[in-house]
Amino acid sequence: NQPNTIYEAIGPEKISELVEAFYQRVSKHADLIPIFPEDLTETARKQKQFLTQFFGGPALYIEEHGHPMLRARHLPFKITPARRDAWLACMEAALIETEIEEPYFTAIFERLTMTANHMMNTPEEEK
Ligand code: HEM
Repeated sequence: NQPNTIYEAIGPEKISELVEAFYQRVSKHADLIPIFPEDLTETARKQKQFLTQFFGGPALYIEEHGHPMLRARHLPFKITPARRDAWLACMEAALIETEIEEPYFTAIFERLTMTANHMMNTPEEEK
């Protein structure tokens, strides 16, 4: 039986592990520390909800927070090309650490790269 969505293929446990591994790295990344809260518990909880629906699972994020409007929600933070690269590097390392396999690894990383590009709102020199 072929899975219909990334969510079905990898399951909620892996999504949770992925998000934990990701914010472990975010909390130590010099370019990202200045814009993230010190306590990432709530950020991680929301990201688990968001990625669950982003990967085709239940709409947990919308149920609690309404439409994601991700670009608007990121406007208070200066997201430069370097911060986009840092975010994606943390995510790539987290995908490797949690042993998410092909074809899901590439499918996930491509979708997140497109979304991360869309989140940029500040040129490097204005940081
Ligand atoms: C929230 C940074 C890309 C999804 C946040 C927050 C920051 C941030 C600083 C606020 C954390 C908090 O106050 O709790 C960044 C940077 C990115 C990036 C530097 C680099 C491009 C993305 C991408 C996604 C995403 C690609 C989705 C695939 C979210 C979600 C939240 C969030 C769901 C929580 C929104 C809420 O408060 O409800 N991000 N982000 N972000 N980000 Fe990002």
